[in-house]
Amino acid sequence: MSMKSYITTPIYYVNGSPHIGHAFTSIMADILKRNRMALGHELKLSTGVDEHGQKNQEAAADLGMPIDDFLAMRCKEFQGVFDKLDVAYDYFVRTSREGHKQAVAGMEQSIFDRDLIIKKNYTGTYCKGCEEFKKDSDLTEEGQCPLHPTMKVEQTDETNYFLKMEPFRERLLQHIADNPDFVQPEAFRNELKQMLSEPLDDLCISRPKTRVTLGVELPFDTDFVTYVWFDALANYLTNIDWPDESYAPWWAECEHLIGKDILKPHGVYWPIMLMAAGLPLPKKLSVHSHWVGAGGMKMSKSIGNVVDPMEVIAELGVDALRWYLARHMRADSDSQISVDFIKQTYNTELGNKIGNLLSRAAKFSKARFDGKLPAPGALTEADEAIRKSVIAATEGLGGWISLAEIPARMQSIITVADEMNNYFAEQAPWELIKNDDTRERCQTVIYVTLDCLRVVMEALTQVIPGSAGRALTMLNAPDAVHPWKPELDRLQGDSDLGDIETLFPRVQ
Ligand code: MSP
Repeated sequence: MSMKSYITTPIYYVNGSPHIGHAFTSIMADILKRNRMALGHELKLSTGVDEHGQKNQEAAADLGMPIDDFLAMRCKEFQGVFDKLDVAYDYFVRTSREGHKQAVAGMEQSIFDRDLIIKKNYTGTYCKGCEEFKKDSDLTEEGQCPLHPTMKVEQTDETNYFLKMEPFRERLLQHIADNPDFVQPEAFRNELKQMLSEPLDDLCISRPKTRVTLGVELPFDTDFVTYVWFDALANYLTNIDWPDESYAPWWAECEHLIGKDILKPHGVYWPIMLMAAGLPLPKKLSVHSHWVGAGGMKMSKSIGNVVDPMEVIAELGVDALRWYLARHMRADSDSQISVDFIKQTYNTELGNKIGNLLSRAAKFSKARFDGKLPAPGALTEADEAIRKSVIAATEGLGGWISLAEIPARMQSIITVADEMNNYFAEQAPWELIKNDDTRERCQTVIYVTLDCLRVVMEALTQVIPGSAGRALTMLNAPDAVHPWKPELDRLQGDSDLGDIETLFPRVQ
């Protein structure tokens, strides 16, 4: 029986270039995909772009570009960045796709037919940054959106279509109570329960074409386009061919990865849209906090602390970035990032602790054992101990990992890399090689070290697939076992090693 797993990222607004937040969620989704594939699951990972709404429309106008050209340009840019980041998406979302738009209209019509959509006049405050209506209590003392203070909220007075939300509130709360895994981690589940603790306003699901044209036309009133969040959320279904029945087995295993900034649309609007359409809810919402600059300052061009993913990978390589993001995200609060932090982590962890050990041991082996990896002799207690530690440290990646668990799994790999370095230094193979009667002992130490590194590298293919793959080629390792778990002694004694290159050349 094949197990299915469907992982989604948010689809990103194309009003600007891809930034570190976009890179982060999509890379984490990729790590979870590789983890689940290692466990033997059949996977779909979707990521992509949200092409509708006022913000995108105005961005195209600002550049004086025809809208289709603008969208095509940005789409290509985002897709190119995700390719460079080794995000192995199975489906790249574009909401301008005809099939998506038709399915969204179908969903709206079915909800309309159930008398859950009403037309009425609305006056209120709108934040273009969030593409959301705001209550006074959502705004700062200056009356601005706390997430987009420089964008200036707008006053609207319009007739629009609204989805009734309140009839579904109790049911959603019950669903959250019955399914503790529905929203993770717990702090965000509590935040969501808080959002649902008071009666819900109707959700405005349209924009008059007099104001916004970039969107999906309402099937029951052609003077309006669909509110961008309604159409964007529906991507999660349209990507897997809903309303075609083939969507069902994938949908049953759907996990949404989102940043904390978009908990409300995913935790309130989306489940209620689905209930209104008579559809099942996704299995899980995995929520993460944000990246901020060094010292906890928000990243901004004026401060000059913006971390551009493309600049980082040009200077340090994609795995320096993937490693930093996987290793240093905190589950409970915002995490700090800067180019210097990434460099430091790259040099000290990937370079000194992992890459150096690999090149030292492998080069030594090639030089002293005729280009080969020697066969081991009898194992000592020290050998058994390090092998046991390596299994314990990597075992976690042989099981299901959740988004919030990724950093701890990386931590255990670094801890065992320290132990491996200590083992290598204490065993001192360069001394053992000097005497004939310790030569076999030397062979064993080299074999144990490189075989342990192989296990670590197999585990790391889930996180830094490019570098880990190169390391396994250097070691001439056989294909990893599938489903994956850490297994010792899979390197062949007395076999040729590949060319040894420096995996993580030191920077600065
Ligand atoms: N288009 C909507 C999402 C629609 S999903 C149906 C949107 N787009 S966005 O371009 O603003 O991207 C939002 C996502 O980017 C966040 O949920 C998060 O995944 C990521 N991040 C944006 N800034 C971030 C940080 N500073 N740190 C980490 N991730 C953050 O909202």
